[in-house]
Amino acid sequence: MKDAQPRAIYLKDYQQPDYWIETTHLVFDLGDESTRVTSTLKFHLNTSKKHDQLPPLELVGTDMELISVAIDGQVQTKEQYQISKERLILQPVFEQFETVIVNDIKPQENTSLEGLYSSSSMFCTQCEAEGFRKITYYLDRPDVMSVFTTTVIADKERFPVLLSNGNAIERKDLDNGRHLVTWNDPFKKPAYLFALVAGKLEFVEDTFTTMSGREVTLRIFVEPHNITKCDHAMVSLKKSMRWDEEVYGREYDLDIFMIVAVDDFNMGAMENKGLNIFNSSCVLARPDTATDATFQRIEAIVAHEYFHNWSGNRVTCRDWFQLSLKEGFTVFRDAEFSADMNSRTVKRVEDVNLLRSHQFVEDAGPMAHPIRPDSFIEINNFYTLTVYEKGAEVVRMIHNIVGKEGFRKGTDLYFERHDGQAVTCDDFVKAMEDANGVDLTLFRNWYSQAGTPVLDVTDEYDEDAQEYRLTVKQSCPATPGQETKKLFHIPLEMGLLDGEGEPMPLDKSGLTTKVLDIKQPEETFVFTGVDERPLPSLLRGFSAPVHLNYDYSREDLVFLMSYDEDGFNRWDSCQRLAIDIIMELVGKVQKGEELVLDSSLIEAFGKVLADDSLDKAMVAELLHLPSETYLAEQMEVIDIDAIHQARQFVKQSLAAALKDQLVAVYNELNIDKPYKPEADDIAERTLKNTCLGYLVELDEETGVQLAQAQYAGAGNMTDSMAAMSCLASAEHASSRPLAEKALQEFADKWAEDTNVIDMWFSTQAACHHNGLEKVKELMQHKAFDKKNPNKMRSLVGAFCGRNLVNFHDKSGSGYEFLADEVIRIDALNPQLAARLINPLTRWKRYDEERRELMQKVLKRIQQHELSSDIFEVVSKSLA
Ligand code: PHE
Ligand code: ZN
Repeated sequence: MKDAQPRAIYLKDYQQPDYWIETTHLVFDLGDESTRVTSTLKFHLNTSKKHDQLPPLELVGTDMELISVAIDGQVQTKEQYQISKERLILQPVFEQFETVIVNDIKPQENTSLEGLYSSSSMFCTQCEAEGFRKITYYLDRPDVMSVFTTTVIADKERFPVLLSNGNAIERKDLDNGRHLVTWNDPFKKPAYLFALVAGKLEFVEDTFTTMSGREVTLRIFVEPHNITKCDHAMVSLKKSMRWDEEVYGREYDLDIFMIVAVDDFNMGAMENKGLNIFNSSCVLARPDTATDATFQRIEAIVAHEYFHNWSGNRVTCRDWFQLSLKEGFTVFRDAEFSADMNSRTVKRVEDVNLLRSHQFVEDAGPMAHPIRPDSFIEINNFYTLTVYEKGAEVVRMIHNIVGKEGFRKGTDLYFERHDGQAVTCDDFVKAMEDANGVDLTLFRNWYSQAGTPVLDVTDEYDEDAQEYRLTVKQSCPATPGQETKKLFHIPLEMGLLDGEGEPMPLDKSGLTTKVLDIKQPEETFVFTGVDERPLPSLLRGFSAPVHLNYDYSREDLVFLMSYDEDGFNRWDSCQRLAIDIIMELVGKVQKGEELVLDSSLIEAFGKVLADDSLDKAMVAELLHLPSETYLAEQMEVIDIDAIHQARQFVKQSLAAALKDQLVAVYNELNIDKPYKPEADDIAERTLKNTCLGYLVELDEETGVQLAQAQYAGAGNMTDSMAAMSCLASAEHASSRPLAEKALQEFADKWAEDTNVIDMWFSTQAACHHNGLEKVKELMQHKAFDKKNPNKMRSLVGAFCGRNLVNFHDKSGSGYEFLADEVIRIDALNPQLAARLINPLTRWKRYDEERRELMQKVLKRIQQHELSSDIFEVVSKSLA
């Protein structure tokens, strides 16, 4: 384990390094048992720091064996250097010098999936955030940027493809069936963007001509059996490259851009310079193997990683506290790209849903942190929804404050000023200010404060004065380490509707939507010349990541659902209505009272289903009831059983009341046509399958039969998966044998396809009919792999994160199970363990019995020898 108990590091302690590395030359000799790394580094003193004498050179490195170290050709004896589990300390005698370090590593034994490791028959690397230190001794920090040259040597038969960053500059055959390829990346980069891949891979190739007329080669490398699954990623890549030119004026800068798919990967994908490495689940797709959701995810992630070439690589982070500089900005960029490629409102709804049901939870829990944290124990724990998604919301607010053109001026200045540099979030904000002449001083608190701000809105209408007054109070709950909060600058976009549902002018210019800049604890905005009592539409487009309270009646919400000119708020009003109704029913469940569904929801949903003018994807979103997780957030003490029961009751009652309409819409959309992963077709399938999802809630055979027929005749994975999961979760008993049969057939058919089988695992793990026993049984399945992150997430992650009633079973069996898995995985792959443990961290929100059970297993975990990842999460949750 580590040298000592893990310690926190602080942003305020940041200091520049004592030395810079100009060039990095690495030679990898990939062997059967170990890999020899020879690193030649050219250093020079950082003269912007004051030094009395030459400071020692402290290189970091773990899990490796040092073979030799030389400075300027002088082999260093053991007396000349210090070595520990995590460091190699040398004493230079000149301001400029060269080191040659030789060390051995064992990628075949590396289960952490950081550094160099093996996945199926190939070798690959993952260096962000601090994985490079598992490859060789180095200044593994993002502000040290160097030009890399990489030579890879391996057996030619087993590893015909040898890749690294940049351009290939030499290839040659060696003795004993080995060969060598040398790559050079002319752009300075930090070590976290280094990558190496070796394997028996095939590729698809295409080209892209950049805006200045350069031709770039594009290649996607996969294991041979996946070669038919690359087309969608390639199309997505070309769209992304064009979009970044058109929207940001950013051109690609190397002669080749490569993507590699690997099955063992901790995250979605990685933006290594010129050589992106992807989790195979985020890049491979064919109509018969991937669902619409996967196709869309691939488009978004390919774009995200590609966009990092500028927002992340050309301009990188000074230190890891600045992670949101690249991630928040890049998520914002990919969200806008997806909005341009598909339906803008639907994309917004999806993102806000994710933010509210998961990021808000994080921001209210024991691991809450600002988008720019000011301390951490383990940086890997900070690749969070807060840094990514809330970070993107913060960038979006800047975009909305300075406007589209102002934002482009700001990004142009940012890229121009900082190209080739490692910078801070503040540099980004400064560029926005300087390019636009705005003052974002107060706005900066979004970077330093955790917690979700609350806006409490009240209003008053004065008929005599024809005046409407909107009063907005802001507050923010305390979070760990931040008892009191400073004010935020919150852009609140709003409009007013008259009694007919028409938008009312907000001022003399006739504008019907505007942004109120909230900068005070309490502010009143006065609208004059208002000739009737208006209904306010607030936080349009979700203009800020806040909770907004306003006392809407159910009629108000139904009214906004029908008339609001803001599409996002039409959806949000529907959500508010559903939440209000479900939460009232939750109260009734708790008191053992009879449940009756308010007819307003039935009418509202009926109207939505009948409205031909609406985008079908939007209809599907409107019909989607708030998730159990989001509903849970509405409760002081979470009662997951009552939530589940109330929500199921609502689903079933809606299905019963709207059965004919649901069947009609289903039939109308259930047409056989060739699969295309395009917005309109996706919308049709989503709506169709949403209707099916309601129909299988009925305690009769209608839905089951439709699902069965759809499963049997499905021409693509979207329909097949949807039908299978509908059969699995269906209410009526006739579905059981059919579901069993479909699941069996599916498993037989797809036994060899690891990504498809993952969906099969997760469908069953997340299904509320299945308890822990099912999960344990599935873990014995021959396709399951206890070390593979995708498999663990599909089964353990899906059960604990989505099958809430069963995970939170009163016996505590779910908690004990998760604790056992976390302890087991932590010894192999701490990053994975730290993600899986998440459902246990919110124990304080549950009833006393569950609270105790969860606390007990957290304490049991604490008894073990832990990684810094799990140590940090467990100690912060128990604090
Ligand atoms: N930087 C990657 C991305 O967001 C995510 C990642 C982080 C991947 C750490 C691997 C390890 O695009
Ligand atoms: Zn990213």
